[in-house]
Amino acid sequence: MRVVTIVTLLLFCKAAELLRASPGSARSRAHHGRAGGSRRGSNPVKRYAPGLPCEVYTYIHEKYLDCQERKLVYVLPDWPEDLLHMLLARNKIRILNNNMFSKFKKLKSLDLQQNEISKVESEAFFGLNKLTTLLLQHNQIKVLTEEAFIYTPFLSYLRLYDNPWHCSCELETLISMLQIPRNRNLGNYAKCESPPELKNKKLRQVQSEQLCNEEKNEQLDPKPQVSGRPPVIKPEVDSTLCHNYVFPTQTLDCKSKELKKVPSNIPPDIVKLDLSYNKIHQLRPKEFEDVHELRKLNLSSNGIEFIDPAAFVGLTHLEELDLSNNSLQNFDYGVLEDLYFLKLLWLSDNPWRCDYNIHYLYYWLKHHYNVHAHGLECKTPEEYKGWFVGKYIRSYYEECPKDKLPAYPETFDQDPEDDEWEKLHRDHTAKKQSVRIIIVG
Ligand SMILES: *[C@@H]1O[C@H](CO)[C@@H](O)[C@H](O)[C@H]1NC(C)=O
Ligand SMILES: *[C@@H]1O[C@H](CO)[C@@H](O)[C@H](O)[C@H]1NC(C)=O
Repeated sequence: MRVVTIVTLLLFCKAAELLRASPGSARSRAHHGRAGGSRRGSNPVKRYAPGLPCEVYTYIHEKYLDCQERKLVYVLPDWPEDLLHMLLARNKIRILNNNMFSKFKKLKSLDLQQNEISKVESEAFFGLNKLTTLLLQHNQIKVLTEEAFIYTPFLSYLRLYDNPWHCSCELETLISMLQIPRNRNLGNYAKCESPPELKNKKLRQVQSEQLCNEEKNEQLDPKPQVSGRPPVIKPEVDSTLCHNYVFPTQTLDCKSKELKKVPSNIPPDIVKLDLSYNKIHQLRPKEFEDVHELRKLNLSSNGIEFIDPAAFVGLTHLEELDLSNNSLQNFDYGVLEDLYFLKLLWLSDNPWRCDYNIHYLYYWLKHHYNVHAHGLECKTPEEYKGWFVGKYIRSYYEECPKDKLPAYPETFDQDPEDDEWEKLHRDHTAKKQSVRIIIVG
């Protein structure tokens, strides 16, 4: 999939080059290669994004328009009407006017994320009766009513998060719509920005029937400002430095961005996250808690020295984790416990230290035999250097049992490895249970 993106980008660069070198040859390609091109001198594309035509392409028999990051403020008149997917992320669109997309009757997906949209007129989506996917995250929308969606009966996937939602009576119809059980993928992560008492509450959890009852609320709260943007709270590390690809998979590419921490505002629907070649030296608790759909996480080449046992909490769907080329010596107990669906774990080029603290990682892998781990090799101490960790563990039990197993002498008759895992596990659960008893009692 990544290859497709790269090929598309390459094609696009090529087209841009051709365009500069000889307009004639570019035009012959224009039939399929671009839309909204600069055929006329006064064309808006030329004015807003000189030299950057949009790309029209077909992928698995579906026609796409890729016009991302072009400083667009409006749809352009010469885009083909038979588009199925329209990618308009990272432009400067401020208003969605009535009938703005009405001639694109076949449209199935419309990506408007990371624009500056603050107003959506009630018939903005008129004519889009095949639309299934609408992405409006990372904009400036405060209010929107259900009415806007009566023209999109097949909408099944709607993203609204990171907009400054004003959870007032005006938003009641939208909130009620999102809360209908069958609308499972509509607006899941959107949160209220105001009024203060509802700040950070998810739209799906707001009690919509109360919004219009209490007129007091409205009086206390100033009317949403029409002009002037709300103050943007800048997160410590901003994921907008990264590249966000939407098709075919939600990918956030933060490779080589000099990041010292995991960005705090990773969009919650990201499926692949590349944080390789940064300077993240430790993973703190719950770094990825909100990225529920993440399947592939690349943390290679960061110099990671420590991973908090709760760092991967919430990554229940993660399938592939790359931790190669870091400074890890072992894993603390618990680090891997949330990763139920992990399949591939890349561990090479870390200074794994073969002593008792490496046992957790080894036994976890042994008991999750469907996880393929690569590169777990001792670097220190000198006597085990270059050994696979499994060999070290076996020698641990063979050599000098009495000295090395002071805590569990009774386990030595049976398979020592399995028993040690059981013991580790029992201790852990016992600890948890005793805590629970104290709370209950
Ligand atoms: C992680 O990123 C590195 C560097 O960008 C790359 O070489 C490696 O293949 C990636 N790992 C996976 C599992 O894709
Ligand atoms: C390993 O990571 C370091 C940064 O910690 C980087 O400079 C180096 O290029 C990486 N090596 C490989 C082979 O990717």
